[in-house]
Amino acid sequence: MGTMAHFVPFDRNLTWHIASVRRDERIRVSGQNGAVIWFTGLSGSGKSTVASAVEQKLNSLGRMTYLLDGDNIRSGLCDDLSFSDEDRVENIRRVAHVSKLFWDANLITLVSFISPFQAERRLARNLIGRDFIEVFVDAPLDVCEDRDPKGLYKKAREGLIPNFTGISSPYEPPENPELVLNTGKETLERSVERVLDYLKSKKYIHR
Ligand SMILES: Nc1ncnc2c1ncn2[C@@H]1O[C@H](COP(=O)(O)OP(=O)(O)OP(=O)(O)O)[C@@H](O)[C@H]1O
Ligand SMILES: [Mg+2]
Repeated sequence: MGTMAHFVPFDRNLTWHIASVRRDERIRVSGQNGAVIWFTGLSGSGKSTVASAVEQKLNSLGRMTYLLDGDNIRSGLCDDLSFSDEDRVENIRRVAHVSKLFWDANLITLVSFISPFQAERRLARNLIGRDFIEVFVDAPLDVCEDRDPKGLYKKAREGLIPNFTGISSPYEPPENPELVLNTGKETLERSVERVLDYLKSKKYIHR
């Protein structure tokens, strides 16, 4: 369990400041091992719902967490970005870097973004390393469209939202996710339990 790598470009007059409290020290005192739980799936598949419920459960167990949710981050850090392919990639690049900082802070970080492209999720995985937990929230398009919790599918079908994932922009399912949650079939409680079981089995929460 090292700490952040020192990737400092040569030509920028930057010197990496080495923190005096190291990540392994944070792990020892906290009884948890920070991770990035990356929820990916169609709009309406249940990423935010499951991530929030998992976070609630972890907090009730006294664990330190933080949830990075798509719409919230797009309202602030990424409010300059559109939903073009290029800006989606930049959106995920920023979120991956922020989630790496939270990982270094030893938080169990939950990320709920559609993140439709393999390449951008690979970038996040490569950045975080072995504590990256990809969770495919796998509800079929027709179920998501029936739910339509934000009324977005209706608008997308009416042509009011360009580049809408599943309708006018592709979704590339993960090839080797650590977990698949069939939120079209299984209950929310069951999905939460499966994420918690995974964290326990891999010793992300201990003591
Ligand atoms: N088993 C389940 N797991 C999760 N959500 C469920 C389940 N069954 C029904 N739902 C409902 O499905 C909807 C999922 O909406 P949610 O906002 O979580 O999706 P999302 O994946 O975060 O979408 P978006 O990408 O637009 O943010 C909610 O209204 C939720 O109550
Ligand atoms: Mg959401």
